[in-house]
Amino acid sequence: MQFDPATLPWQDGYKLLTGSIVPRPIAFVSTVSKSGVANLAAFSFFTAASANPLAVMFTPMRRRDGSRKDTYQNIVATGEFVVNVVTDDIVLPMNETAPEYPPEVDEFLCSGLTAIASERVAVPRVAESPISMECKLLQTVDVGEGPGSASVVIGQVIYLHVRDDLVQDFKIETADLHPVARLAGHMYTRVNSTTVFELIRKT
Ligand SMILES: Cc1cc2nc3c(=O)[nH]c(=O)nc-3n(C[C@H](O)[C@H](O)[C@H](O)COP(=O)(O)O)c2cc1C
Repeated sequence: MQFDPATLPWQDGYKLLTGSIVPRPIAFVSTVSKSGVANLAAFSFFTAASANPLAVMFTPMRRRDGSRKDTYQNIVATGEFVVNVVTDDIVLPMNETAPEYPPEVDEFLCSGLTAIASERVAVPRVAESPISMECKLLQTVDVGEGPGSASVVIGQVIYLHVRDDLVQDFKIETADLHPVARLAGHMYTRVNSTTVFELIRKT
């Protein structure tokens, strides 16, 4: 089958894209609003952006009514956010943050996850996440306009927390991390010792 996105409703294009780009890692992003309310939301349009400076990027889309998500608004207002890694242990609480709560709702409370102070930003991180990246906003890049359009958020990682047992010589033991990744629709996948394999890079 062939598809021309120009002839499709954006929701169908979204399904094709999210079914094709799999698995996607999940940025569990904490932010704080200008009035001081903490916010927590998951984003699977997420990847590394640069190693020098160390940077990540993720993509809050506009809601169906065309409005901006709280995460985007908070980051633009404060210039800060934290990316927490989602693992097997916290995938259920992560799902509790997914409903579109109004800005005055603190999703740390909805999820039962623990907010602890970060080192370099005024945004709390998720205590239960084994890896958290404290970020300062570098740039946003608008992609389109209206419902389903997006803004790519690029942030410089200015401080990193990695659980002691997961890291040696700066290498993180992926199978022990137990990250969870998103597939299409309601489907997810796991990374563990039965799914990882080694392929020495040809030089
Ligand atoms: C696993 C997962 C991945 C998600 N990925 C994205 C994404 O990449 N972009 C996006 O706009 N929304 C994504 N969402 C939906 C947002 O998490 C959801 O709209 C949330 O309510 C936004 O919260 P906020 O308004 O507090 O920022 C995802 C949800 C889940 C559960």
